[in-house]
Amino acid sequence: MCSNKRKIVLVGTGMVGMSFAYSALNRGLCDILVLVDLDKKRALGEAMDLNHGLAFAGSSMKIYAGDYSDCADADMVVISAGVSQKPGESRLELLQRNTEVFGSIIGPVVRSGFGGVFLVATNPVDIMTRVTYELSGFNPNRVFGTGTTLDTARLRYLLGEYFCVDPRNMHAYVMGEHGDSEFVPWSQAMIATKPVTDVCGDSGGRYRMEEVERLSTQVRDAAQRIIEAKRATYYGIGMAMVRIARAVLSDENSVLTVSARLWGEYGRKGVYAGAPCIVNRNGVDRVLELGLSEQEQEKFDASCDILEENYGGLEL
Ligand code: 2OP
Repeated sequence: MCSNKRKIVLVGTGMVGMSFAYSALNRGLCDILVLVDLDKKRALGEAMDLNHGLAFAGSSMKIYAGDYSDCADADMVVISAGVSQKPGESRLELLQRNTEVFGSIIGPVVRSGFGGVFLVATNPVDIMTRVTYELSGFNPNRVFGTGTTLDTARLRYLLGEYFCVDPRNMHAYVMGEHGDSEFVPWSQAMIATKPVTDVCGDSGGRYRMEEVERLSTQVRDAAQRIIEAKRATYYGIGMAMVRIARAVLSDENSVLTVSARLWGEYGRKGVYAGAPCIVNRNGVDRVLELGLSEQEQEKFDASCDILEENYGGLEL
């Protein structure tokens, strides 16, 4: 961390970035929030709009439109810049366009003297995070992405509805690509410390695993359904970004399924994928290796293979 002021630079003031900013303001996430965008007029307007609400939020956050030089003493650079999905478009189809966008962002951030943590939200987030790692030359633990954090929250919400349990007591994860090949290791899903499989088995037919497993399809398709309804998703991902950033700024050591670089965990090396990680002031402290079943490991490998294949075709 740099000065005692918690400072974040947000690159990209579109709906995702500004949902993050608005949530950050209302949650008192940091002391200084700098908005950077190619469209400087947009960044200025967004800063003005947020500042006019400070009194209502009871916040003393300093919010202003800035530039890459503001990254020098920032604790985090949060990146949501780039194009987003259109109805029917997959996240992977955004890859080459957003890689070109990142080519104009990462260099200036690094040249500013930035020494903090990168949090990437731009899709396809696993590969965009790897692009950030490769372009920045940073230690991989200080470069990570939102990964399947939002998917995991969606899953917990749906499980909570099904079992009538507070989602915070639903311990289940979505892993792999933040995208069509993501999966849920159901063998690791718990209500409190009781496996979901046992809860269903002991319910006398009230709860059924085949119904529970169908929820993962709803999670995987959630973004497309929202995009078809309102053309984009932004509140959920914006709040997920705040949750992750808080784990960094508050040095929480929280478990979050961010997109982290694997270096032997789950038998993979070099790929960035969503897995349960311990997140603290240094970024990803370590990746947690769950005891996946053989079938779950195959799903994880298939997802990582898709990420590797798409990264391999990139022109950095
Ligand atoms: C989401 O899952 C589009 O990746 C974004 O909401």
